Parts: sequence; structure tokens; C-alpha cells
Amino acid sequence: MSHPQYRAAIFDLDGVIADTARFHFVAWQRLAKEEGFAIPHVVDDRVKGVDRMASLNIVLEYTDRGYSQAEKDALAARKNGYYVELIKALTPADLLPGAGEVLHTLRAAKVPVGLASASKNAVPVLQALGVLDDFDYIVDAATVTNGKPDPEIFLKAAHALGVDPSLCVGFEDAPAGVTSILSAGMFAVGIGEKDLLADAHEVFPSLADVSLARYFQL
Ligand code: G6P
Ligand code: MG
Repeated sequence: MSHPQYRAAIFDLDGVIADTARFHFVAWQRLAKEEGFAIPHVVDDRVKGVDRMASLNIVLEYTDRGYSQAEKDALAARKNGYYVELIKALTPADLLPGAGEVLHTLRAAKVPVGLASASKNAVPVLQALGVLDDFDYIVDAATVTNGKPDPEIFLKAAHALGVDPSLCVGFEDAPAGVTSILSAGMFAVGIGEKDLLADAHEVFPSLADVSLARYFQL
């Protein structure tokens, strides 16, 4: 099926544009280790698309110790410090396959491009990857009240781009993100494994496998 009628593209960041999931996981692992427990590898998938505090709550499922909200705030800040340290090493080589090409093609075709990421580190990450200027609008994660799977973040991006959600294509690597796109009434493209992202309209292993001409007039 071909859908060349779409007018805007809205991307998730971690796992779609940037190879940063491993850094989030390493930072959580370090935090857990310092707190005296270990986290299994499934946490890597479980925290995808999940905001910082909700991710911390997932991590803390693996310890019996209880933490007050103030302690949790401190833990989340500590993890973020480790993450910020790790992303200093990011370069354009950490763009996921096809991401740079897709962004440049959309830019050349004058298709509005938005970012709908739960990450409060989105701007420095895009900067380090050298693609900050390829985005017309970046949702400020700090202003989002309801995280994915709620549609709020994708709707905010569509609104700012001035494009009706039904004319937007959303790209996501996390099931919660796909649900967010679908609830926003957009066309959902999953990036990753078909089994995990079965709800998406279409799924491709990476952005390098996506043919933009199916959705946009190039
Ligand atoms: C993305 C990642 C999550 C991360 C969240 C918040 O959605 O997939 O793993 O927890 O962003 O990131 P932040 O940089 O704000 O801690
Ligand atoms: Mg993601």
C-alpha cells in the first residue's frame, strides 16, 4: 500500500534516530550496582520510551529496599548525571542506520519534521549527532503531562508543525510509543522487531529500510 498523502513526519529519538538505549541502560546499571542490586537485561526494553522517573520505578522493582520520593529524585538525578557523561561521547557515527539520509530527504522535500521524545536530553543528543537543524519542532519533554502511551506528545508535535494528526506519520521503536502514535490518529511506522511492534501499521528493521516515497511527495 502506498500513502503519498502524508504531510509531516514525527520521530521518536532513542532507538529510532540515536543509538542511545545502551547508554540509558549502562547508566541505570551503574546506579543499581551502587545501590547494591543488579538489573536484568530485560530492563533495557522495559524502559524504552518511558520517562525518567517511571524508568527509575521499573529499575527499583529489582530491589526490596524502599525509597522516599526525595531519595528517588536524587537517584534519578544521579542516573541522569551518568547518562549525560556517556552521551558526551556521541558523534554523527551514532546516528542509527538510515536516520541521517531520511532526515535530509525530508528536509529537501520540505516535509515538516518533529521530534516527540520523552528525553529531557533530546537537544544535546541531536546536537552531538549533527542533526539538530533537521528538526522544525522538538517537543520539550518537561512540558508533557502524560507520557507515552498517551498521545499527548505526538499531538503536541503535530500541532506545533501545523499539520492535522491524520496527515502525520510517526516513527517509534517502543510499543508504548506506537500506541501513542495510534491514539493520536497518525500512521504508525515501527522501527525494530515485528513481534514487539505488531500494532504499528508497518514495521521495518531500521530507517534505512523505509521508503519515504510511500508516505510523502518527494
Ligand atoms: C527515552 C528513552 C527512555 C528514557 C527517556 C527519558 O524515552 O527511551 O529510556 O528513560 O527517554 O530520558 P531522559 O534523558 O529524560 O532521562
Ligand atoms: Mg525510543
